[in-house]
Amino acid sequence: MNRVKSIFLLLVICSLAYSQTTRLDQISLTNGTNGFGSIKINKSTMGNPLKINSVTYANGVGVFSSSEINLNLFGTATRFQATVGIDDDVLVKPNEANLEFQIFADNKLIWSSGIMKYTDSIRTKTIDVNITGKNFLTLITTVGSDGVNASDHADWVSTTITYNGTKPVCIPKSSLILTPKINNGNYFFAKTDTPIMTRFNVTSFYPTTVSITNLPVGLTYNATRNLVSGKISSPGVYTYLLKAKNEYGVDSMNIIMDVRDVLDAPTPPMGWNSWNVFGGEFDETKLKGIADAMVSSGMKDAGYTYLIIDDLWAAATRDASGLLQPDATKFPNGMKALADYMHSKGIKLGIYSDAALTTCGGSLGSYGNEVKDANQFAAWGIDMLKYDYCNAPSDVAAATARYKTMGDALKNSGRKILFNICEWGQLKPWLWASNAGGNTWRTTWDSRDIWNHGSYDGGHCGVIQGLDNQKGLEYYAGPNRWNDPDMVMTGLYGTGKSSSNAGANGMTDLEYQSQFSLWCLLAAPIQTSFDVTKISDATKRILTNAEAIAVDQDVLGQQATRIAKSADTDIYVKDLADGSVAVGLFNRNNTISQDITLNWSDIYLSGVCTARDLWLHADLATNDKGITLTVAPHETRLLKIIPALKSGVSNLIESKLNFNAYFKEKNLYVDYQLLEDSNSIKIELLNINGSPVSLIENKPKAKGKYKNSIDCSDLVAGFYICQLQTSDGQLCKKVILN
Ligand code: GLA
Repeated sequence: MNRVKSIFLLLVICSLAYSQTTRLDQISLTNGTNGFGSIKINKSTMGNPLKINSVTYANGVGVFSSSEINLNLFGTATRFQATVGIDDDVLVKPNEANLEFQIFADNKLIWSSGIMKYTDSIRTKTIDVNITGKNFLTLITTVGSDGVNASDHADWVSTTITYNGTKPVCIPKSSLILTPKINNGNYFFAKTDTPIMTRFNVTSFYPTTVSITNLPVGLTYNATRNLVSGKISSPGVYTYLLKAKNEYGVDSMNIIMDVRDVLDAPTPPMGWNSWNVFGGEFDETKLKGIADAMVSSGMKDAGYTYLIIDDLWAAATRDASGLLQPDATKFPNGMKALADYMHSKGIKLGIYSDAALTTCGGSLGSYGNEVKDANQFAAWGIDMLKYDYCNAPSDVAAATARYKTMGDALKNSGRKILFNICEWGQLKPWLWASNAGGNTWRTTWDSRDIWNHGSYDGGHCGVIQGLDNQKGLEYYAGPNRWNDPDMVMTGLYGTGKSSSNAGANGMTDLEYQSQFSLWCLLAAPIQTSFDVTKISDATKRILTNAEAIAVDQDVLGQQATRIAKSADTDIYVKDLADGSVAVGLFNRNNTISQDITLNWSDIYLSGVCTARDLWLHADLATNDKGITLTVAPHETRLLKIIPALKSGVSNLIESKLNFNAYFKEKNLYVDYQLLEDSNSIKIELLNINGSPVSLIENKPKAKGKYKNSIDCSDLVAGFYICQLQTSDGQLCKKVILN
């Protein structure tokens, strides 16, 4: 026997030796679907012993057409065997039983019983199919040629699935996706010369190749992380193609990057909103008091610059020319006077309306009067519109049209008015709201002043429900287009007067801090809603924490991804513009503290990093591995992981300068390529702590390729940093070992 043959035989023997078998009745089939009731294990669909042609079978499953069982085989199964037939318990109405068994592997039909009837002379069929390498097995019973499922009691009995690895599991039909699917936004914004990061989310059960074509100059693709990053210097609308391909198909998407010198909402807008705290119980004096307190408490300086008057500000009728008017009792001096007051304090004024005839609270909405209302808002000096969706049709086409009409009206109003879309996420606004002109869009029902609302229904949610609804939405957010998980509850302490907060008793300061940390990680528009005139020290400490706010307001505009989750703990990760990474270690457990470990490698960092605690305002550790922290119940430890040697380096800079530095035979070599002239190129050698060791070069350079070699025979052995800086502030650093 030659060598190849013997290896092959060995492989066959090994694979036989490791083969295992399972049966359908030994797999949880709760994800399967059945025409009537649930799929029965070791029983007919009527709950009788499995019996076909008077033969009783000890194991199998009983179904009622139409039924469907989808198994994920993980590519390691080899064979499916079974006997199928119509159960004897249709005897009462035997003529009705008429159905077909079908088997699909990876969505292709591989076996069919043909139409089977109770009246057939042969009422069982045996199956023995090869499913080697297949990922999904779908077992179906149809209603047959009579088109109805009456008496279609079907049995899969004496089943055997042979497999070599992971035991097959029954998955919902919705998970059976063969072709790759791209799940991310397709129209993003960036400011010129500002770091960009666009992350893509491709889902597929099969190995998939992702490719990018036509990437604009200044951006590079990182295949490991499936993201594009860099900077673009010239304004313009750039388009590139994202393509995901596997053996079953292709998905592709044109990604548009709209680069402007000025963006309306380059970072998530921050402010205060009247709804949760006051409901409809406010007037101009109260609102002026809030604005004054926003200034005196330091909130305004911390970034909370919008004051938004929510629902129930408008008079019951429009004026003679059809214009909205403020309620005269609440606003005796009118809206323009209030806006002027706000502006004199450095506060921008937001207002509320609805894409229907009436608002959620029963006030007048703007539907049909969009242009008039937008112009009126502009004339008053309004800076943001929150536009609700109560009493409006529940389909995407209507929502898109209604929001776009208002979006366009605002754009044409002659004033910059941010557009806050409030459809609560039911119609997936992350897919269309930016197109309609939205700068932010609600992704959840109303936030309540409660940690855990128990369920996500009835129009309200606690912190936990709001948080858990953000998963996967991070691929749709970015500068100028923000997901809005609704208000932070910090400072409310159960005093909210709106219907949204009826019965919500408030949270602890640790819980308020935790929600705030998570919302900062989510790059949420931070809208507070509490009586600022009574701000507590704890609330002030939380809401004005500059280090936490810097995470929310980071210009890279990333919304955190949950990279790990166990029953009690989550880890959230948000890339920051300076190359460091914000991290949230979150404990869901109600009573028990948890130790959570973060490895730098989990967040694509390597080498020495420092973990800074953004609540303690202290560096906790500097090492090349990671950190383990104890997290109290409901707490979020908010950290910034700062790579010691990478600040300021972006992919763009490295590729644009094509920078490389290395030691060889006592010489230091520095190679780089300039695609543009630079007024100066400064190359320095620093020690590992960043102090200068020697200046290698500092002069103007024309575009071109350069190779420097410097004699370093006197340099002691060890790690150094070679740093190159251009006149326009680009910075490259490399750690090198001498
Ligand atoms: C809806 C919104 C809330 C608030 C109220 C006002 O419920 O989701 O944020 O604006 O309407 O009635």
